[in-house]
Amino acid sequence: MPDPAPAALTFLQTRRSRPAKTLGQPVPDRAALRPLLEVALRCPDHGKLEPWRLIVLDRAALDRLAGLVPECGARLGKAPGDIAKQSAQFSDAGLAVAVISSPVESEKIPAIEQAYSAACVAYGLLTAALAAGWGANWLSGWASHDAAFARDGLGLAAHEAITGFVHIGTETATPPERPRPDIDARTTWMTA
Ligand SMILES: Cc1cc2nc3c(=O)[nH]c(=O)nc-3n(C[C@H](O)[C@H](O)[C@H](O)COP(=O)(O)O)c2cc1C
Repeated sequence: MPDPAPAALTFLQTRRSRPAKTLGQPVPDRAALRPLLEVALRCPDHGKLEPWRLIVLDRAALDRLAGLVPECGARLGKAPGDIAKQSAQFSDAGLAVAVISSPVESEKIPAIEQAYSAACVAYGLLTAALAAGWGANWLSGWASHDAAFARDGLGLAAHEAITGFVHIGTETATPPERPRPDIDARTTWMTA
């Protein structure tokens, strides 16, 4: 017989992100963040390769990242408005955790499966933060896909990539629900 956890199921059926720009203070301190990181790293991981790592970004670190955006944006030919918006993702944030995909050599586990595992880490962290009562939002942004930004801003090695920034803080405004997928349109029940 199944052993249900109805409160957990209800939470998962109703959870939603809170836009990063609506998150305020306080943000979780190290003690509050640790159990959320623990949940995040308790994730599906084929071969137990641990092909990911986390970088916790405090205010000063986020300001440093914001300071790297203008050069990155100019190099990529971004418009001033796009540069300001990307910069504000960091300068307006109180806390973000960068989830880093850090694939390892494996004859058995393809790199794409290792990247999937890193995405599970990000989702786990997002979900844990929401379950703990924080507002949270998984963002990328064009700078996150730039190798020089990742190297200079976060010290990433050439084989690593930013899976996302999970912003965590206090909810200041409840966002309207957004349309959710039509289960029947997205699901095929294959019976033979
Ligand atoms: C890999 C990834 C990157 C994302 N990057 C952004 C982003 O840069 N900006 C943004 O507005 N939403 C971004 N999103 C979308 C939000 O995280 C999220 O899907 C949306 O806020 C609704 O989420 P919810 O289903 O948890 O409510 C991204 C989602 C994923 C999976």
